[in-house]
Amino acid sequence: MRLAFAEEGPGPAVVLLHGFPLSRAMWKEQLTGIGSIYRVIAPDLRGHGDSPAPAGTYTIDEMADDVVELLDYLGLDEPVVVGGLSMGGYVALSMAERYPARLRGLMLMDTRAAADTPEAAQKREETAQDVLESRNVRALVESMIPRLFARKTIAQRPERVAMLSEAMEHNTPRGVAGALRAMAIRPDRSDDLARIRVPTIVMVGEEDAITPPSEAMALADAIAGARLEVIADAGHLAPYENPAVANAVILRFLDGLGRPVA
Ligand code: MLT
Repeated sequence: MRLAFAEEGPGPAVVLLHGFPLSRAMWKEQLTGIGSIYRVIAPDLRGHGDSPAPAGTYTIDEMADDVVELLDYLGLDEPVVVGGLSMGGYVALSMAERYPARLRGLMLMDTRAAADTPEAAQKREETAQDVLESRNVRALVESMIPRLFARKTIAQRPERVAMLSEAMEHNTPRGVAGALRAMAIRPDRSDDLARIRVPTIVMVGEEDAITPPSEAMALADAIAGARLEVIADAGHLAPYENPAVANAVILRFLDGLGRPVA
């Protein structure tokens, strides 16, 4: 599937994969802040933003295949850095396991390797049905806001919350349902973590209510050499809520990788 994407900047490529039910809009500050030094590529994953939203259940592996197809389309045969937030992290882990030669670095942000519990998967299915029946994603988006953002972001940066809510509401019920079902059936990738050989950073918002710092610590511990970075004044959307600190962390990681071998 040909994905819509935004692209900014010169130099080695960094691919950023958004969370659910977001779009490339969440990487605005990375496109400008990091895109002055690196080639930042931010696709809309299937079912989101301006990318196609076919009917039916998606899989995280399909989403990863779409990203690899985009790399091929862009002529990026050399390994790239892949960063994924939450659902984007599930996609990044699928790429790390299934396309290790395409990666030279991995950034896992506000995400986890474990699968859904049966209860969580059941809840996602109910939400998918609600969204399809109501033909509206607004109620879902509104219910997610307090869990996506830190309290401080909601209180002090309402315009940032509104901007992303609007991007989320732009998604279609079909795309949202497809992605919910993809997450519900995703495999547990915990055992894959020991096979990750590329430099890895794990980032988490200090107030992340969905994938809390304790989970991020366990994720970093399971990946050889991975460093954990806890971002202050941020919830589940650390790079969006505190872009100054998150971008500094990302740039330090990217600079530390050096230039790719041609
Ligand atoms: C996300 O931000 O992508 C979602 O919270 C992930 C999830 O629901 O598992």
